Amino acid sequence: MVSSFSNVNSGREMLKVSNLVAGYRRDLPIVIDVSMEVYEGEILTLLGPNGAGKSTLIKGICGLVEVISGNVVFQGVEISNLETYEIIERRVAYVPQTQNVFAKLSVSHNLDLGAISNVKAYEERLEKVFMLFPDLWKFKDTSAGKLSGGQRQMLALGRALMADPILLLIDEPSAGLAPILRNQVFQQVVEIRESGVTVIMVEQNARAALSVSDRGIILANGRLRRVQNSKELLEDPEIAEIYFGAGPTVRAS
Ligand SMILES: Nc1ncnc2c1ncn2[C@@H]1O[C@H](COP(=O)(O)OP(=O)(O)OP(=O)(O)O)[C@@H](O)[C@H]1O
Ligand SMILES: [Mg+2]
Repeated sequence: MVSSFSNVNSGREMLKVSNLVAGYRRDLPIVIDVSMEVYEGEILTLLGPNGAGKSTLIKGICGLVEVISGNVVFQGVEISNLETYEIIERRVAYVPQTQNVFAKLSVSHNLDLGAISNVKAYEERLEKVFMLFPDLWKFKDTSAGKLSGGQRQMLALGRALMADPILLLIDEPSAGLAPILRNQVFQQVVEIRESGVTVIMVEQNARAALSVSDRGIILANGRLRRVQNSKELLEDPEIAEIYFGAGPTVRAS
């Protein structure tokens, strides 16, 4: 696996979420009073049980669910009252948890659609995406529905990268993948970060995700429970018991 805790984040705040209340109905908020910061260049992992509100939180950040109160400030500008397309124009991209590719369209066509919001330097970006995901080049004329689960996830990431984001929100990139493919996806997330993209990733594979992240956030019942360095979370026996399914992480000295 790729080296962890590379600490490439600049310490500059990129995103600030303050007292966010968000959800699908005003009378039934899902995310409750969440405040958090994201620093430029980091990988932040969002953990929590099923139904905790992880997907809703990242949808709230990119304008896909209603912000009932509180706010989201991206690069010093409040985006909580903007339309999703206006948030995308500010170079925030989002990879949904499911149905994240157009199954009937070819790989190339899916990637082209990713670039629709930002056609500048299209060829250069396409080349970068094919370098990061060589399988996509191999299957560029294949319809996305015929790809394996791992390849489809790569296409979803590739499509988001075609918009040339500076902040990428990824919902469960390793879901449903065999362990070897999971590790490959996490390695690609690290490479994406190394290319200058800040990443917020929701994950269920807590140990593997924290191993490649700078910090972790734990959400339960829509509320923020912990914000800590990934290294500390990995070594915390309580977190190990709840999220790693076994005893605390054993580290070689
Ligand atoms: N489109 C929707 N309309 C109404 N309620 C929804 C919708 N999507 C999710 N919810 C509800 O919001 C709550 C939080 O769901 P959310 O998908 O954010 O959780 P999650 O932490 O991402 O869970 P998972 O780990 O299962 O993906 C759940 O009670 C869920 O039923
Ligand atoms: Mg979810």
